[in-house]
Amino acid sequence: MTTVDFFQDNYAPVREELTSLDLDVSGTIPEELDGRLLRIGPNPVLDPDPTDHWFTGSGMAHGLRLRGGKAEWYRNRYINGDSVADALGRPRMPGPRHMDGDGGANTNIIGHSGKTYAIVEAMNWPVELTDELESVAPSNFDDTLEGTFTAHPKRHPDTGELHAVTYFFGWEDHVRYLVIGTDGRVRHQVDVPVGHSPMIHDCSITESAALILDFPVHFDLESAMAGSALPYRWQADAPSRIGVLPFDAPGDAVQWCELDPCFVFHPLNSFDRPDGTIQLDVAKHQRVFDTVTNGPAEGPPQLYRWILDPAKGTVSEELLDDRNQEFPRVDERRIGKDARYGYTVGFVGEEGPAYKRDLHTNTTELHDFGPGRSSQEMVFVPRSPDADEDDGWCMSYVHDANTNTADVVILNAQDFTGDPQAVVHLPQRVPYGFHGNWVPSEA
Ligand SMILES: [Fe+2]
Repeated sequence: MTTVDFFQDNYAPVREELTSLDLDVSGTIPEELDGRLLRIGPNPVLDPDPTDHWFTGSGMAHGLRLRGGKAEWYRNRYINGDSVADALGRPRMPGPRHMDGDGGANTNIIGHSGKTYAIVEAMNWPVELTDELESVAPSNFDDTLEGTFTAHPKRHPDTGELHAVTYFFGWEDHVRYLVIGTDGRVRHQVDVPVGHSPMIHDCSITESAALILDFPVHFDLESAMAGSALPYRWQADAPSRIGVLPFDAPGDAVQWCELDPCFVFHPLNSFDRPDGTIQLDVAKHQRVFDTVTNGPAEGPPQLYRWILDPAKGTVSEELLDDRNQEFPRVDERRIGKDARYGYTVGFVGEEGPAYKRDLHTNTTELHDFGPGRSSQEMVFVPRSPDADEDDGWCMSYVHDANTNTADVVILNAQDFTGDPQAVVHLPQRVPYGFHGNWVPSEA
């Protein structure tokens, strides 16, 4: 087993928390964009050791506020978990903690039920943030969240509810499926028997079911005893399978569809097909946490299409694009439906371009941000709530190695390869991190 240094170059943390009210803009920011482009990633508050795990550094949120064709502000703030508060000499957040977690979060940042949350899987509860990204307190959704949460709830576009699959090292034989209502409270939960203790980073939904991603990375007691910050390891003899759990069904109604060993952090999307099968597109890693234990670095993730047949328990597979890519996204209004377009970006070692995939014609467009410029996860924002699927903008934080700063780039989705609609120049770099979202003002 070995490690890779995940804290070099633009993976290294930044130290200043800035508030910038005077931002240079190239091009024209669309008047329709009224909200915040938020993102988050690990930003270890203490200088990291090169062997540290990429996934476990304390979180830092970044946000750009757009309104009336103007870039009103950029801010970045640590998520004030106890280790951050202690290191910086700040007061700890009030409120509850899940077990002995430090209350921080570093993986995703969402708006739901009028609040902003930084979220993470497997231990700490969501951290409520102000609109200006200051940490308020951990939240267990008004005492309705009994266990852990996830970094990847999926918002059902027709109901606005969040569907989530959660796990915890102390759950030795099951994971949990949750639905959080539009009122910000857990309204449904079932335990799903799996017989082991897997890492489940994300989930997917169709219009009828939640998909449980049970891949062969499990809690590893030996690694935990050795002091590993994230004691999950590849288990060569364990199954790779996707569970199909109809909404509102009991946990033991899950139907498993098995495939060859692999790992998926992030599905692109999934939907029910008329013949009873399910199409699930994913960024597939051949293997993780086997020989490299502090981050995913055992082969490039690539875009695959899986067809699940719950009746037969099988999965058929097709490679869609062999380029190294991750952080797949769709128009959020098409989650669980037959979305036409998906967006990905180059992954570790091949950062740079963003890709727009036509999932119906299986063709791809590439946006080249220029020499030394690399996009983080793209977010599609529709022109209006009822605009067509592709009618809007693709937005992302882009690192510029030439200046060691960052921009937010706004592309016209229907002119993906063309010049940007607008570029907002930020005063400092934004470390390569994990996830972000557009949170419109009314959300
Ligand atoms: Fe993720």
